[in-house]
Amino acid sequence: MIDFKSALCAALEKAIAALLPEGAPTAEEIGEMLTTPPDPAMGDYAFPCFKLAKPMRKAPPVIAGMLKDALPPIPDLEKAEVAGGYLNFSVSDTYYTVSVLNEIEAKGDDYGRPDFGAGKTVVLDYSSPNVAKPFHIGHLGTTVIGHSLKKLHEFAGYHCIGINHLGDWGTQFGKLIVAYRTWGSKEEVEKGGVDELVSLYVRFHEEAEKDPALNDAARAEFSKLEHHDEENIALWKWFIDLSLREYEKTYRQLGITFDYYTGESFYTDLMPAQVEKLREKNLLTIDDGASIVDLSAYKMPPCLILKRDGSTLYPTRDIAAAVYRHDTFAFDKAIYVTSAQQIMHFQQWFRVLDLMGYDWYDRCVHVPYGTVSVNGEKLSTRTGNVVLLRDLFKTAIEKVSEIMAQKNPDLPDRESVAEAVGVGAIVFHYLSNSRIKDINFMMDDALNFDGNTGPYVQYTYARTCSVLEKAGGIPEANGEYRANAAEVSLLKTLSKFESKVTDAIGAYEPMIITRYLLDVAGAFNQFYHECQILTADTEVAKAFRLRLTAAAKTVLGSALELICMKKTEKI
Ligand code: ARG
Repeated sequence: MIDFKSALCAALEKAIAALLPEGAPTAEEIGEMLTTPPDPAMGDYAFPCFKLAKPMRKAPPVIAGMLKDALPPIPDLEKAEVAGGYLNFSVSDTYYTVSVLNEIEAKGDDYGRPDFGAGKTVVLDYSSPNVAKPFHIGHLGTTVIGHSLKKLHEFAGYHCIGINHLGDWGTQFGKLIVAYRTWGSKEEVEKGGVDELVSLYVRFHEEAEKDPALNDAARAEFSKLEHHDEENIALWKWFIDLSLREYEKTYRQLGITFDYYTGESFYTDLMPAQVEKLREKNLLTIDDGASIVDLSAYKMPPCLILKRDGSTLYPTRDIAAAVYRHDTFAFDKAIYVTSAQQIMHFQQWFRVLDLMGYDWYDRCVHVPYGTVSVNGEKLSTRTGNVVLLRDLFKTAIEKVSEIMAQKNPDLPDRESVAEAVGVGAIVFHYLSNSRIKDINFMMDDALNFDGNTGPYVQYTYARTCSVLEKAGGIPEANGEYRANAAEVSLLKTLSKFESKVTDAIGAYEPMIITRYLLDVAGAFNQFYHECQILTADTEVAKAFRLRLTAAAKTVLGSALELICMKKTEKI
């Protein structure tokens, strides 16, 4: 089916070309020029004629009138009207009630899928916690924004590769090894997992304040690790396994999997070649014994490549990882999702890639996000004021369980529904804001079943399921049906799905989908309250409304999955 907007652009292209033989805009350019009239009563699309005034040497309202007369017929156009310097277009209701509805039914879960990603590869680097450190609310952003971007790109046809770039290398492992050997025990660590590793790490820092020799011991242990000392390697692997076991619980609750858990250590052997290349290209400067790339010409601080003792740093590993990913996956885009605190880090090493002659450096995209506070409190790992993701999810699930015990005590499988709704509430609340804004996370707001929340949207999805289940199928009914305003408005909202997906990918912004879900849920609930579905006056009306309910279910379900939320058939 050719959608209305494309047909409109093609018609406008023809009409303008007839009036302006040279320099007329293409259909694509026209698509970008189209706006929405301020009042829906004025139409669905507005074409501004101001830019044509100069080349056509006429006033915009005159041009709007001429265009109107020159337009070839457009299917489903209700009317075209001149309004000042604009030509406004109203789409006929049948476009929505016939074409859009048929298309949703025909395409099902593929409805709204853009195809611009076909044949292209995207590598996404997200979540990436630092091993043996708490997995806290600061990681919520990278984890859910990253995974939503993966889902969105997959939906648009991209081949996607999700990488968890674990922070699994660096001097902290020397500290942990010393701390474990001095104060730790195998049983305690097995039992306590990451929590026990974190407390050993904290203890190390406390004791090292009194006894700085511990730092030397830690450096020596890390150096042994770097030189493949068997015992240290075994400990290090064990620490990673324990941490992963913990993270995987959280990933499972979110329904997230990764294609690769290749952490920083994976690139150890690949770094020397990149350092060598930097040296050959005369990009390295020695500064106080350390090797750096001077970026003052780009008004940035230097990018640190090697420490005084020759050990590598965070940017060195990122450079080696990017080259490896480029060589292995031949990506069209490499997306990195981290907190905004790392904006400079990414700008620096992207520039270094450019200076090294990697002409694909501009395919790397950094997607930053703002800080999170919880219930008004600033959090910091340094002061120990952290909220673990695991605890946040647990609280949400418990609260949802309580609400559900009152609202729907007989619900089968209540535990897994409570998990989907509790975790979903957090994800939805988090993704409701523009990613770059700092957010204050309010648990009660997130869980409010009547607010603009995840539970509200999942509840609406469950409502579509229950209506369809009660109907036990959509009856065949022949005859004309004239849709009312609520029905047309719901279909109009559903018809925007594909453009929302495109916008969300373009802006790397899952919020666009979250907000859209609220629009769809709002339009569906309006329709649900205004129209009798199962007890409609006629069979024709009933059949149409059930088809509409099924269409809403399709779009709600697809959009929920795009932002890492589960489809809940019953709540
Ligand atoms: N482990 C890092 C952190 O927790 C994030 C890694 C992001 N990815 C990357 N390729 N630098 O801050």
